[in-house]
Amino acid sequence: MAVANFTLPALPYAYDALEPYISGQIMQIHHSKHHQTYVNNLNAATANHVKALQGNDVRAQINLQQAIKFNGGGHINHSLFWANLAPANTSQAKPESAEKLTEAISAKYGSYDGFKDEFMGVLLGLQGSGWGWLVKDKKTEQLDIVTTKDQDPVVGDLAPILGIDMWEHAYYLQYFNDKASYVNGIWNIINWETAEGRFLGRSGTLEL
Ligand SMILES: [Fe+2]
Repeated sequence: MAVANFTLPALPYAYDALEPYISGQIMQIHHSKHHQTYVNNLNAATANHVKALQGNDVRAQINLQQAIKFNGGGHINHSLFWANLAPANTSQAKPESAEKLTEAISAKYGSYDGFKDEFMGVLLGLQGSGWGWLVKDKKTEQLDIVTTKDQDPVVGDLAPILGIDMWEHAYYLQYFNDKASYVNGIWNIINWETAEGRFLGRSGTLEL
């Protein structure tokens, strides 16, 4: 059985490219330290899991489940997050880049602003560490806003369209306890082209 080797994906923009909404210092630490740690720990856990499978060691397999869930989720979620951000001065950062998705958003939430208000309410209401997501149900095609705790990823019938990291490490060095300013600012740097691709199920937009 081959042992998986996950790697840190390169960012498609410079660390300071999302300023002033997310500082270069936050991006550098978040990507090169936090995400790298999830990747390293996921590689260690999956390698040990392979050994446990080969040895038919069910106790060891069970013992590794939390590490795989936490670090695998951390790797998936951050990979999605980097790709659904873009510098504010690019065409990707304009909602007009997501024609079909914004149509569906208006149909569901009344307007783009109505959607933003609802999403921000959910993000700011999240307790502890976790993520806020715009998702599409693959069976019903319906949009929804959901949260996941810690590093739990969106799984099953739900496809992630947009993910927002609500861990303190995502904003604290710049915004301190002012979570609302982080959440307000992030609308300027959403990569709507990526979001449209995920909404339409375009290949290459949803790695992992
Ligand atoms: Fe994070």
